[in-house]
Amino acid sequence: MINWHIQTFASTDSTQNLLRNLLNEGAGEGVVIQALEQKQGRGRHGRDWVSPLGNLYMSFSLAPDCAADVAGQLSFVVAVALSRAVGRVQEGDHVRALKWPNDLLVNGKKLAGILLESDIKDGKVSYLIVGCGVNILSAPDEAIAIKDICGDKQVPIHPFRDMVLEEVNSVYRLWKEEGFERIREEWLAQAYGLNEQMSVTLADKRVKGRFVDLDKKGQLLLRTEDGQDIAINSGDVYFS
Ligand code: BTN
Repeated sequence: MINWHIQTFASTDSTQNLLRNLLNEGAGEGVVIQALEQKQGRGRHGRDWVSPLGNLYMSFSLAPDCAADVAGQLSFVVAVALSRAVGRVQEGDHVRALKWPNDLLVNGKKLAGILLESDIKDGKVSYLIVGCGVNILSAPDEAIAIKDICGDKQVPIHPFRDMVLEEVNSVYRLWKEEGFERIREEWLAQAYGLNEQMSVTLADKRVKGRFVDLDKKGQLLLRTEDGQDIAINSGDVYFS
């Protein structure tokens, strides 16, 4: 069980950077850096993560002591935990879905994103920096916020942050004790676009097929028209 050490800042460039500095100075697992706003929040693939006041922006450290190719499973651990936390506060029958590799959608719109950055030494992960951005009070166009799915109920940032950390603790413990399988199943039960046609943008090309499974490494399995299964471990996913 991780005993979280939380530090909250009014404003920073990116909580990822602050945490990385602390880890380079010797901090270990369980450090949480939260900012009320970020001036240069970033998302996957170097995109901006616009970070005004009112939402949750935090990065926390994990030291899973595993090989680099297993560490990708942690993004599913965190996605499942985030979904559980949102499930605790949402009201009504809004539909949560997990979009590969690590977006949380509600009613088909993005509510939260996860960014994993790692430090690898000799093929092993020395630490992981897990960044979570959750829209609570506001969301960009086309996205959704927690306030949109909670009726009249207010969901303050800090109690929600603590719920996320509690859920990360329990899903992470499950992963450590029992491995990836149960997390994979929980993720697949909420998978966005499972069995649907989609296209994946890879570094140099676009591949089309049907999203048929998530494999034991957390790779997306895409079945192409000629019946071939391709395992995808990064790239952007578009459902068409
Ligand atoms: C994505 O969906 O592209 C991932 C978004 C991750 C955003 C969070 S906010 C806290 C942490 N600090 C950052 O600069 N990014 C992550």
